[in-house]
Amino acid sequence: MNAVAVTGSGSEITPVKYPSLQRLGRVRWLAAFSLTFGLIAARAAAAGEPEPLWAYGFLTPPAPGDKAAPQASPSRDLRKNEDPGEQTRLRHVEGSTAAYSRVDVRDGGHVIDWFPGDHPPMPRIIVNGPVAMGTAARGCGSCHLPTGKGRPENAPVSGLPVAYFIRQIEDFRSGARQSADPRKPNTVTMATLARAMTDEDVRIAAEYFGAMPWTPWTRVVETDLVPRTRISGNLFLAIEKERTEAIAGRIIEMPEDEEQAEGLRNPRSGFVAYVPIGSLKKGENLVLTGGVSVTDGKIVPGKTTACITCHGPDLKGLADVPGIAGRSPSYLVRQMYDLQQGKRKGPSAPLMQPVVANLNGDDLVAIAAYVTSLVPPPANSPSVSSRN
Ligand code: HEC
Ligand code: HEC
Repeated sequence: MNAVAVTGSGSEITPVKYPSLQRLGRVRWLAAFSLTFGLIAARAAAAGEPEPLWAYGFLTPPAPGDKAAPQASPSRDLRKNEDPGEQTRLRHVEGSTAAYSRVDVRDGGHVIDWFPGDHPPMPRIIVNGPVAMGTAARGCGSCHLPTGKGRPENAPVSGLPVAYFIRQIEDFRSGARQSADPRKPNTVTMATLARAMTDEDVRIAAEYFGAMPWTPWTRVVETDLVPRTRISGNLFLAIEKERTEAIAGRIIEMPEDEEQAEGLRNPRSGFVAYVPIGSLKKGENLVLTGGVSVTDGKIVPGKTTACITCHGPDLKGLADVPGIAGRSPSYLVRQMYDLQQGKRKGPSAPLMQPVVANLNGDDLVAIAAYVTSLVPPPANSPSVSSRN
């Protein structure tokens, strides 16, 4: 079936060919149904939903007037609280012939490259950042990594449609895209970088990251218990291996191997996302049908719209709508919440607003858990070598 063209302010979605997702017999017509009625039904019921603090990497809600502390410029200075020899000692990672010290790893103005063969040659903007920022510049690869896989506290940027990528930079520039948590420092840095980039930088970066297909590196595990954690730079890190703390409705996403991912920024060392038991099944229904159910032979409309309608049959993106499958669930929840709260309000946001308007925190968790699990990392991936 060739279905539905959706038009929203500023964006047009080309007709969608419904997918080969035959697992649920009714998926196709339920999706069409939910598209027709879901958009009409939605109204911002969830605008007052509490912030999913874990997704932003905080433990307590922001206080009125809270602002992000500006991030320090990249630096090669030795840290006073650490042994100098340890900071300058050259290190290696498996499979790479490169050698870098902690000073190199931390120098966001000169992005390191463990695996040059894993990506096209990096343009200057990816390595050094916008010229206009001088010594405060950071290369895009310092946060998003040379492969664009990003990390839970920033964003996965490889495989994004070029037009979508450029629109996001414009939204950061204009202030149309902000974080619902005013304390999140790196989103503020991102906006500063967007304003400092030339249009040529933006095009080059969009094409560089867009040319790399998205490949997954987040393993999803349903569980009641998670390891106890600490938060460093808005990222959760395990303080012990055993799982003893209640997951309490959250998603807790952390490096599979802290030293590899955090200490060395090894772009082959992935993440594990612990999600509540039952979230994958619940998320599947919301994602595939919009949450439509059939009670006593009657169709009960869902609270959202089937994501395949716009994000493509396998949720890997369609035209200028970004892929979401297999990407960081913390990132996905932040974006859905930012859209719901009107903090992300660029020209194409109106297409997503009815989708998130009626979703509560548990729905966001279930949706993100399922969407991430759709593209699991390969079983033999180095990202899963060192933990259970
Ligand atoms: C200090 C870390 C940092 C650096 C350096 C950085 N970014 Fe970002 N980027 C972020 C954060 C944080 C977000 C948004 C995450 C959020 O608010 O949830 C983001 C989001 C994005 C997005 C939106 C992705 C999406 O799926 O919507 C794009 C595009 C992007 N960055 C491009 C760039 C480019 C190009 C550069 C290099 C000039 C760059 N970034 C450098 C932190 C960074
Ligand atoms: C009517 C079309 C439409 C539907 C249905 C839809 N989306 Fe979207 N979605 C979009 C568009 C368009 C964007 C990009 C918005 C922009 O450019 O700012 C987007 C963006 C997103 C983003 C942010 C991605 C990023 O990289 O930052 C997430 C997450 C998302 N959608 C999740 C979902 C989920 C989950 C569903 C199903 C429950 C869904 N969407 C259904 C159109 C849609």
